[in-house]
Amino acid sequence: MKQNVVVITGASSGMGKAAAELFATKGWLVFGGARHSENIPTINNIQALHLDVTSEESVENFMNLIWERTDHVDVLINAVGYGEYGPIEEVPLSAIKTEFSTNFFGAIRMTQAILPSMRTNKSGRIINVSSGIGTSYMPTGGYYAASKAALQIWSDTLNIEVQPFGIQSTIVSPGATKTDFISKMFASFERNTHPTSVYTSLMAGVANMSKNYKASATAEDLASVFYRAATALRPKMRYYKSVSDRMNVYIARNHPLIWKCLMSRVTKRMMRVSTDNNEES
Ligand SMILES: NC(=O)c1ccc[n+]([C@@H]2O[C@H](COP(=O)([O-])OP(=O)(O)OC[C@H]3O[C@@H](n4cnc5c(N)ncnc54)[C@H](OP(=O)(O)O)[C@@H]3O)[C@@H](O)[C@H]2O)c1
Repeated sequence: MKQNVVVITGASSGMGKAAAELFATKGWLVFGGARHSENIPTINNIQALHLDVTSEESVENFMNLIWERTDHVDVLINAVGYGEYGPIEEVPLSAIKTEFSTNFFGAIRMTQAILPSMRTNKSGRIINVSSGIGTSYMPTGGYYAASKAALQIWSDTLNIEVQPFGIQSTIVSPGATKTDFISKMFASFERNTHPTSVYTSLMAGVANMSKNYKASATAEDLASVFYRAATALRPKMRYYKSVSDRMNVYIARNHPLIWKCLMSRVTKRMMRVSTDNNEES
């Protein structure tokens, strides 16, 4: 019997790394890609390869190395992603382009490179790692949310197009999870906060809110969700780690006015603090 093969992007950290370890211990052959490939675990069954999903050349080299070592890929997990946080008005266009080139176009580059072989084999599964915020948006998270919203509608469209070839595309929608994602998100807060900006207190407020929020999910929890999505006989369109992750998305999607009121109130409260402070000074 052929060994199951999975390609995991973002395997040097967080969920991708935990997934590489989980699939490998379950006996799968894992091809893990990341820019810091030296951080990809090197246990049995894992092949660590350099990959920058923002570069077509890098994706091509990555896939060429994989095709030298296997003739099939059963599952692709597009786990790469990061949050470029900041006010819609002020995040530089170059940073927005890199966000989309990584979170959205990165998944497209990988998928277009692997789909032809999945079609030939008449089977395959593509797991796209989105975020609850792709539906339940929040202030200063607009560009990250937009990249994940795009990923979701793209994945759903892909799913109906490739199902006739025995291939499914599905979304895993994590909520806050203990990984390096959070520190990278705070780095973007620092990059995109300007002392003279009218949004300074909004940025500080969201940063504080995020700091005080204690994520309970771990990378390993999400790796188990990826594994379920990869091995379910009939995969679902959406996978969530917890009921609260599902609830947030449910409210934002099915009760958009309630979500808008909630987020407006949070935003106004943070902005009012700023206006009051300005008036006092
Ligand atoms: N953690 C959360 O709270 C949370 C919540 C919702 C959704 N998510 C989503 O979950 C996914 C996994 O994130 P995580 O929490 O595991 O974050 P993480 O620990 O920061 O891992 C991100 C991974 O992406 C890789 N990566 C970034 N840019 C890349 C590029 N251009 N090319 C190749 N690899 C790249 C990083 O490796 P290198 O730096 O070595 O390239 C790293 O392995 C992401 O899509 C994220 O948006 C996370």
